[in-house]
Amino acid sequence: MEKKSNVYDRREFISFLGKASVGLTIIPPFLAGCGNNTTPLKKVKNDENYFNRLKKIEVKGIKPTDKDDLLLAQGLSYHVVLSWGEKINEKDTFGFNNDFNCFIPISDDNPNDGLLWVNHEYVNPLFVSGFNRNELKNPSEHRTVDQVNKEMYNVGGSIVRVQKVNGKWKPILNDPRNRRITGHTKIKFNWDEPIYGAKEAIGTNSNCSGGITPWNTFLTCEENYDSFFGEREFDAQNVASKRMSSMGWDLFYDFPPEHYGWVVEVNPQNGKALKHVALGRFAHECCTLFELQDKRIVAYSGDDKNDEHLYKFISSKPGSLKEGTLYVADTINGIWIPMVWETQSKLQERFTNQTEVLIRAREAAKILGATPLNRPEDIEIDPITGHIFVSLTNNKAKGDFHGSILKIEEDKGAYDALSFKASTYKAGGEANGFSCPDNLAFDLAGNLWITSDISGTSMNHPEKPYNSFKNNGLFVIPRYGEREGEVIQVASAPTDAELTGPWFAPDGKTLFLSVQHPGELSESIEKTTSKWPFDADGIPKPSVVAITGELLEKLTHYNYLK
Ligand code: FEO
Ligand code: CA
Ligand code: CA
Ligand code: CA
Repeated sequence: MEKKSNVYDRREFISFLGKASVGLTIIPPFLAGCGNNTTPLKKVKNDENYFNRLKKIEVKGIKPTDKDDLLLAQGLSYHVVLSWGEKINEKDTFGFNNDFNCFIPISDDNPNDGLLWVNHEYVNPLFVSGFNRNELKNPSEHRTVDQVNKEMYNVGGSIVRVQKVNGKWKPILNDPRNRRITGHTKIKFNWDEPIYGAKEAIGTNSNCSGGITPWNTFLTCEENYDSFFGEREFDAQNVASKRMSSMGWDLFYDFPPEHYGWVVEVNPQNGKALKHVALGRFAHECCTLFELQDKRIVAYSGDDKNDEHLYKFISSKPGSLKEGTLYVADTINGIWIPMVWETQSKLQERFTNQTEVLIRAREAAKILGATPLNRPEDIEIDPITGHIFVSLTNNKAKGDFHGSILKIEEDKGAYDALSFKASTYKAGGEANGFSCPDNLAFDLAGNLWITSDISGTSMNHPEKPYNSFKNNGLFVIPRYGEREGEVIQVASAPTDAELTGPWFAPDGKTLFLSVQHPGELSESIEKTTSKWPFDADGIPKPSVVAITGELLEKLTHYNYLK
């Protein structure tokens, strides 16, 4: 973590959060309300003792394990909030493979009652539709449209009101805001031109991580969209051909690939959704927003694929995710390159207009000399220094097996700067005790939480490089105390699973976390590799859990040690 000498004195971080400027910008209140930082911080201002108390907190980690369970460090416990297949209202059920979580309190005064948005990234047909890909060779011959419809229903996202009662979070099933967004939901494009002939898309899929807007709506990001409806690819002569998907939905529904791969905004009050074309089309992992003093928006997003890129959008109008400029990062020279057809002659040679540039953002980025990165995933803004942290999961083809966390320092701390400095904050590997960083989250006190994403087939393989890490986990890098800057494992996932979507409740007393794809490598329903969460039917179920406990409160909650 940052040393004292960097930019801000620790005691000043409250004023940084509350009102002071970083260059021309401030951390907006919406960051303080949802996840990164919370109301109690206001009380910390000028409290000389707070930081001394934080320094004394002991964090005892856990050792890597291959046990089929969600195991936590001493001082933490969990309960399941929502599992796949559970009813969320009279007609809807919670989707599969939950990833990103985002909690918005219904009122600022009550951190224990709010709307939880949960992404459902993809499905394992074995569990969802009874289609066993392990036994069959040709998906089109052996799967029915009803099965595909079930699969499409189980991706997208859920809005569920949840309340904490007697220390446990529970869904409120009769709340009228509870609803599903699915692979069948019609969603308009926030763009004047049609996208591949249409003003709206059918459905959203591949909803991996996401973000929140200053106006309290959710952002859900379409990541590996080509798995569902394939991709249209262009050769050197600019001739298109369609690559079919791996999941085979395009054998049943001929939806244009161009309708997926966007950042999608969802209004928690009414479920209305919009696909934001201006932010470009690629395998969006997440979308992290910053509101400038003049209310213009900066949006960071990474393209999680080997040798793809890091992007940022700067709006030209307050509160807009449509009017503005998309940039792509040259991290070697520290330059944000504008992806503007009108001014970039190289883009004019390949594309006919700006809409095409945005749809084929990956190609455009390469033409402009963007730096290939090792799978940029989650992005968070450090509440203390204002620096931007980007997970780079790995790039096995290039010999980077463990990934790293990239730090971006915008010029003069201004998020609308067009130049920056990039450096490695922390490298994955045995020396640092983690591998394949994916999701990131900063808590109330500025500790950094990281989840790992070692792929199922690599995990617990008897040979290096991943065997010593065992199951995927959750890690914290304390900002203070004896173990400041160390990577400490605090949770271990069930077999084949990945922990995703860490999000703090506004009082810092709960960490919402997804347990995604437990038992993913199961050969059949009868023989599953995981039984978690140990329901009576023994079927593994992706679920959202709430992590609470003394350790979390000590680390994140100001009042705890008073
Ligand atoms: Fe869906 Fe890049 O993780
Ligand atoms: Ca991810
Ligand atoms: Ca995050
Ligand atoms: Ca991942």
